[in-house]
Amino acid sequence: MAHWALEDIPWDRFDRSKLDPEIVKVVKAACMVEYHSGDYGAYLRSVFGDDPEFASAATAWAEEEVQHGKALRRYAELADPSFDFDEAFARFVAGHKIDVNASESTRGSRCGELVARCVVEVGTSAYYSALRDSSNEPVFREICRRIAADEFRHYKLFYSHMKRYQAIERVGVLTRLKVAAGRLFESADDELAYAYHCGSGETRPYDRRREAYSYAARTLPLYRYEHVELGFGMTLKAVGIKPQSWFGRILTRLAWAVFRRYALGLQRKSAHA
Ligand SMILES: [Fe+2]
Ligand SMILES: [Fe+2]
Repeated sequence: MAHWALEDIPWDRFDRSKLDPEIVKVVKAACMVEYHSGDYGAYLRSVFGDDPEFASAATAWAEEEVQHGKALRRYAELADPSFDFDEAFARFVAGHKIDVNASESTRGSRCGELVARCVVEVGTSAYYSALRDSSNEPVFREICRRIAADEFRHYKLFYSHMKRYQAIERVGVLTRLKVAAGRLFESADDELAYAYHCGSGETRPYDRRREAYSYAARTLPLYRYEHVELGFGMTLKAVGIKPQSWFGRILTRLAWAVFRRYALGLQRKSAHA
């Protein structure tokens, strides 16, 4: 059961004067990706078919993710009454299918699948925290606060199952690092870019590079050090590297320097575009 309901959001406190239209575009993309988690839950149940404990956790998890989609959808519709979610979502799903009958994880092992899930969950927790901290609009801040807390809890859920499978499958640090890095770079890949395109309502043909760039330019500069520190630190933990160790601290500082340089470069370029 979800930890909160849509009615818990103070919708009547919506303040249009504090609305950032650029963020509304981001919300439209996010609501579709979240809403699509029902299919991802089916994929996980299929991959972990003989593990009823995990399969039931995956069902509860997917329900919470779909609820994130519903809350963000309602917000996007409030902010932009012309947003046609059903039309945009139909286009998105048609172009971005998830294999709901997969018998094996696309990450090579169940442990790898769960490492990838940890990366996504801590990534989304940092993402919604960054969105919350960069906005003054009270309803949006409240939605982001609740979702960020859920995503962090999801990380803990997948992390505990990952440890269980790591003990069985004995997947080493390097393999886990490869999976985590692969999933991290996928984040900048097709799913969000395509959702961003479908949510924009534009009829021009889909250009993955252009949409991924626009999306990244609007979101990455919003991250502060504490968001990246937490997100990257928890990713290291899922891989098997202690974030508080000297090695973990150096990697985190390095990641922040590279990330910030990239984000500011995007911001500069989009300001001159
Ligand atoms: Fe979510
Ligand atoms: Fe989540």
